[in-house]
Amino acid sequence: MKKVNLAVVGATGMVGRTFLKVLEERQLPIENFYVMASSRSAGSTLTFNGKDYVVEELNEHSFDKPIDIALFSAGGSTSAKYAPIAAAHGCVVIDNSSQWRMDPEVPLIVPEVNPEDINWHKNIIANPNCSTIQAMVALKPLDDKFKIKRVVYSTYQAVSGAGVAGWKDLEDGLKGVEPKKFPHPIANNCLPHIDVFLDNGYTKEEEKMINETRKILHRPDLKVTATTVRVPVFDSHSESINIEFEKPFEMAEIFETLKNAPGVVLEDDPQNNVYPLAIHAAGHDEVYVGRIRRDESVENGVNIWVVADNIRKGAATNAVQIAQVLIEKMQ
Ligand code: A2P
Repeated sequence: MKKVNLAVVGATGMVGRTFLKVLEERQLPIENFYVMASSRSAGSTLTFNGKDYVVEELNEHSFDKPIDIALFSAGGSTSAKYAPIAAAHGCVVIDNSSQWRMDPEVPLIVPEVNPEDINWHKNIIANPNCSTIQAMVALKPLDDKFKIKRVVYSTYQAVSGAGVAGWKDLEDGLKGVEPKKFPHPIANNCLPHIDVFLDNGYTKEEEKMINETRKILHRPDLKVTATTVRVPVFDSHSESINIEFEKPFEMAEIFETLKNAPGVVLEDDPQNNVYPLAIHAAGHDEVYVGRIRRDESVENGVNIWVVADNIRKGAATNAVQIAQVLIEKMQ
């Protein structure tokens, strides 16, 4: 198998470190490996596959050397500036920020859902929002069979989605320390506020879920609404998803479709208290689906509960899966 030169940008961050872990686990064929971050951590070392790598400061010349694939998770402004530089040098960027996701020239990929869109990339590929990724893995097979008419998302999102600072706010908050990252204490609290507020009263996180769902499912007119909430959980996002379909269905067909869906693990045995839980999903790459029941208030509706590790499937794993598809295409 052809080996690639691969760089991780933002390697010292929450998602960056998980990139390294998932790359190791999946044994990607890597020739030369580079880790990059800001001047703050340049010179420190990170271990990958048993070897120490010195963190390089990201700059205009970082991509002068031959790099085939770069996994970026260093914030939107870093991606805005450096992804085009990398792309111009022939490197394919897989970007975890929201910077390029809605750009019509940039494919937005969940490998189980729309791998065919990778084919039209122009050296930048966007990794969707964490909450969107896990929803797509569950919704795509249902959309294919019963055609979704409307989706209502309500999320229960872990603090790790807000990076190291979010994690620390919960840790500190449990000891009574005031928050630094969030506008209110997150310990013993739920914040209906993720990312900034927009003029229409939605948050940017909610808008991301709505727009990204339409782009990934190729359903530009799909009716979608969302309420995104930060909860005092360290790892894994949980989502209540209410779905209305165009076509009628039997509940057995819904169960069967989700049971056979790539990337989905069905956990639905309420009589025995079995349903997806954040503490069980943490550390895994699958999307867990349960609490599946008919919505009796509409003609063709269901409710489902979807849980996944937001740092793994919601970020690092999804990006590494995209890299795996790219590498397969290079062979
Ligand atoms: P650094 O550790 O040097 O600050 P998180 O969101 O988990 O806090 O991680 C953010 C990641 O993005 C870190 O690796 C951080 O590096 C990196 N980063 C932030 N700003 C820049 C920048 N201007 N250039 C390169 N990397 C950056």
